[in-house]
Amino acid sequence: MKFNRELSIIQQKMAATSAGVNRRQAVLQALNLEAGQTILDVGCGGGHLLEDLSLAVGEKGSVYGLDPSTTQIKSAQSRCMNLTNVELICNLASEIELATKSCDSVASIQTLEYIKDLDPTLEEITRVLKNNSMFINVSVLWDHFKFHGPEDKLNNLIHEAFKSHCFHQMLPMVLEGKLKKLGFSNIKNQELPFLVTKRHKNSPAAHAEVILSMHALKQGISEEKVLDWQKQLEIAEKNKTYGFTSFPVLTASYLI
Ligand SMILES: C[S@@+](CC[C@H](N)C(=O)[O-])C[C@H]1O[C@@H](n2cnc3c(N)ncnc32)[C@H](O)[C@@H]1O
Repeated sequence: MKFNRELSIIQQKMAATSAGVNRRQAVLQALNLEAGQTILDVGCGGGHLLEDLSLAVGEKGSVYGLDPSTTQIKSAQSRCMNLTNVELICNLASEIELATKSCDSVASIQTLEYIKDLDPTLEEITRVLKNNSMFINVSVLWDHFKFHGPEDKLNNLIHEAFKSHCFHQMLPMVLEGKLKKLGFSNIKNQELPFLVTKRHKNSPAAHAEVILSMHALKQGISEEKVLDWQKQLEIAEKNKTYGFTSFPVLTASYLI
């Protein structure tokens, strides 16, 4: 999935919801940052996490945000314009332009699942980490990213079409093995699942509904079917049978 202007705007709205805030809080807690540290955010998007990282490491610290999307980098630049310790890099995660062993920690939220050939990226993250450092990743178990309420056939059609939006549907299931091979240890998973039962416009479910609808149309599902699905979600909410579930997982790992 390419994070062009249209998608970047929705993604940034999603990042600003309670679900986005919860993930960032979990990442910050796991990182346990100290003033003066150097931290990299891989797939920084609109820069929400960069702001928090910048304040945590203070003026003597450095925060790098890397993302290949120029739209996302521009938004991150504008969000962080008053933060002197933040630097943005417009590039792929497989080509991090930072020195070997230069980072105290690397964080990444909902990004690795969009990278087809993941191994070069994980090797690159390992390369820039110092000894005794941390890599924190949050990825979604996309099989559980699901709306409930519409009739099964149509609902399954929309969700099935959404599978092509990223390369790794269940990344947290295989990440631990990949990290072990690269020398990471003490790998722990923390579940961050949530359920939304109201269809109000600032909820992560509202933005997810837009993203799934857009993707379904791109995959050739008719507008009539997509509108019918949305109508069924609306009816389900009225009937109190509506729900949206998502299951992100935070993986914390240490490089000795
Ligand atoms: C769902 S967004 C998450 C953004 C941000 N981490 C957040 O939580 O708000 C995924 C981001 O991954 C970026 N991305 C996609 N492929 C990438 C790659 N190969 N290397 C680095 N970032 C990538 C996209 O441009 C996009 O900004």
